[in-house]
Amino acid sequence: MKHWDMFLAPYKQAVEELKVKLKGMRSQFELNSTHSPIEFVTGRVKPIASILDKANQKGIPLDRLDEMQDIAGLRMMCQFVDDIMRVVELLRNRNDFEIVEEKDYISHKKASGYRSYHVVIRYPVQTIEGEKRILAEIQIRTLAMNFWATIEHSLNYKYKGQFPEDIRIRLQRAAEAAFLLDEEMSQIRGEIQEAQAFFTRKKEMQQDGDM
Ligand code: GTP
Ligand code: MG
Repeated sequence: MKHWDMFLAPYKQAVEELKVKLKGMRSQFELNSTHSPIEFVTGRVKPIASILDKANQKGIPLDRLDEMQDIAGLRMMCQFVDDIMRVVELLRNRNDFEIVEEKDYISHKKASGYRSYHVVIRYPVQTIEGEKRILAEIQIRTLAMNFWATIEHSLNYKYKGQFPEDIRIRLQRAAEAAFLLDEEMSQIRGEIQEAQAFFTRKKEMQQDGDM
């Protein structure tokens, strides 16, 4: 539908631009040969069906869809829990968007077991009709948090939010296991980073040898 294409165009533009910008932050750390707090970045525009479902659930009128915070969505994955606040700091220091809201589901995990840090931004997109500011949601989480959230999301879809009791308990145990994995990794963070730096140097030396 033409109307949707026009509505979604600035969101698509924003997601593409933000993917380049946030991935660029990772590349800069690589260039410095210092540990990158960013492991990888993904982005997506919310599918129309999900936009309509959510508008319906939340009672958002269709002429106010621009209030929906996650039509443009970005995810930044980190190796360690401590990296998350470093990434948030980097986002706070940028001048190309404005932060409108932060939600800390790490200090305060959700009842489901969900953990992540959310930053909602207002991002200016340049269009042929002038500047359009759209909302975008950046979710920052560890690889373990992402693993859990991805699995829980698929199951949620399958059971439409009504988990059988045994699955609900398993998911909570899995959330606890993901939390413990993050804790364990934090404890041996120094060891891990030394090993990763060693392999990066070795790779660089091999590449230099190839030249
Ligand atoms: P939404 O209606 O989902 O936007 O809730 P909200 O407005 O209270 O925002 P919130 O920050 O809680 O959640 C926004 C996004 O976080 C969701 O669209 C999901 O991507 C993610 N999220 C929040 N809670 C959960 C959860 O329990 N499980 C999973 N897998 N993802 C979640
Ligand atoms: Mg939301």
